[in-house]
Amino acid sequence: MAKEKNNMSLPDVFPRHIGFIMDGNGRWAKKRHMPRTFGHVEGAKTFEKIVRYCRDIGIECISFYAFSTENWKRSSDEVKAIINLLRQYIARARDYFVDETRMVFIGDKSAFPEDMRQQMIDIENETRDFDKMTLIIAVNYGGRDEIKNAAKQIARKALKGEIDPDQITEETVAAHLYTSEFPDVDLLIRPSGELRISNYLIWQCAYAEFYFSDVLWPDFMPEELNKALHEYAGRSRRFGGV
Ligand code: FPP
Repeated sequence: MAKEKNNMSLPDVFPRHIGFIMDGNGRWAKKRHMPRTFGHVEGAKTFEKIVRYCRDIGIECISFYAFSTENWKRSSDEVKAIINLLRQYIARARDYFVDETRMVFIGDKSAFPEDMRQQMIDIENETRDFDKMTLIIAVNYGGRDEIKNAAKQIARKALKGEIDPDQITEETVAAHLYTSEFPDVDLLIRPSGELRISNYLIWQCAYAEFYFSDVLWPDFMPEELNKALHEYAGRSRRFGGV
């Protein structure tokens, strides 16, 4: 029997991990003659709506690209505004704990102020055993940076004799990524009409299905996510086989 939520029909097959690239905030604001930062404020509201919806319908793992290693190139006002939104969200994160959602921040946290970094670590520790859903937020994250860091860790272990270079497998690399405990991305969603992966979870997206939409992120509502879920359920995933 097909699942249903808020009178919206849901497919029987769900992706285990949905990755979201929250794109289009700036254009959304520009269309309304508002500063780009206003688009991020609205984008953060959409993020919260989508998190709650995914939790309600029973998605196992969701991840969001909130701030990339490249986003530092934006104006200092815009960088400050995005970091401030993250800060506000982190301060309120305990509201979500009742939902038994595990929260994980991936990326190089060292670039953030000490109090914010500590709050992220505290939240990760306090939610470690929650198993209804995992919410991954990528902050100062870059896929190449992540793989480079994994290579460094593996090389150090090889130097100490803890790893034999000839025994390094794909699983060895995966075990040294931020996402080692979580499933690979099954469905990657990018709104706003851009058709790129932009350095997001590039290892973990090796066999992801992509869903692109022209809707700008602040307008990305659960109805649009349902379209993506139905399309995903209809795809034939072969992982290189026939
Ligand atoms: C991309 O849109 C969006 C970002 C770089 C920032 C996303 C951040 C948030 C939604 C807020 C903070 C997040 C949380 C988790 C509270 P863009 O600005 O590149 O859009 P454009 O392509 O239209 O310019």
